[in-house]
Amino acid sequence: MTHKYGIILHGGAGRYRLFTKEFIEKRKQELKKAALYSFDELKKGSALDAVEAAVEYMEDSGLFNAGKGSSLTITKEVEMDAGIMDGKTLRCGAVACVKSIKNPIKLARLVLEKTDHIFLAGPGAEKVAEILGMKREPIVVTSEKIRKFEKAFRLWLKGKWGTHLFRLKTIYRDFIEGTVGAVAIDKYRNIAAATSTGGYSLKLPGRIGDTPLVGCGFYADNSAGGASATGIGEYLTLIFACKTACDFMRQGVSAMKAAEATIDILTRRFGLHTGGIITVDPMGRLGFAYNTQGMSKSIMTSGMSEPAVAVFPEEDHIMLKFIKK
Ligand code: GLY
Repeated sequence: MTHKYGIILHGGAGRYRLFTKEFIEKRKQELKKAALYSFDELKKGSALDAVEAAVEYMEDSGLFNAGKGSSLTITKEVEMDAGIMDGKTLRCGAVACVKSIKNPIKLARLVLEKTDHIFLAGPGAEKVAEILGMKREPIVVTSEKIRKFEKAFRLWLKGKWGTHLFRLKTIYRDFIEGTVGAVAIDKYRNIAAATSTGGYSLKLPGRIGDTPLVGCGFYADNSAGGASATGIGEYLTLIFACKTACDFMRQGVSAMKAAEATIDILTRRFGLHTGGIITVDPMGRLGFAYNTQGMSKSIMTSGMSEPAVAVFPEEDHIMLKFIKK
């Protein structure tokens, strides 16, 4: 094992060259803080607590497409999805299409801990949240969100939008921009993964992507590894992105090579600009890969003094020097 424990986080894969330098810098700083915040949890000993903390931090940030920062559906509403998995027990919890939950990842954790189910959706999930003592809190639709919505909606009116599966990458690629996720291994070698998203702008009401689907947007199994995905959810679902990466790791492939092999499959089936993934293998090695312009990501391990953060391929060496292929 390369280190005693470690965590890798992502803040979404996408067309980062469209963003301003200031925005990218802000996202990097938030990722760094999320890494530090969750690493404190990891030091206490639980990978599951650490990935929940990482995702909770990014949901609260407003800078990512999850929780507070969630994008709007075509009916100008927020519908959020999240999932979390414990690699020790294979227990998992997921929620979809929730509208008034501040931290969907916390509700997913409650589904894991307190129910006999693995996946709750819509009003039922919100009712269970209330029963389990969570406060309902609608996500504020800010003027910035309306501005983004109007821009996307204008394209939609011009016919540059649609929902045909094989046009998704040209239609939505400018608007996938900030699903969040984390994968960690703790000192007991337990692995956990968590992912949360607002989906993407102009998605149809009721649409559910990869994020809350076990094996697609998240997966963890101590005997294989853990993964969290980001990108166009329909494609990631069709290749079972996270289970695919874990299946590679189960065969002894390193986290980095498993991530690369999975994104290779994604690219071959659906083309470039479709997604990214982060991984951890049972030996504690971390990995990431993406076929988009960039993917914001951060790592922190017990051997490091501060988190490493990178967005673009030309910066990835900052993280790669801490990663064993
Ligand atoms: N990967 C996030 C989504 O498509 O919803």
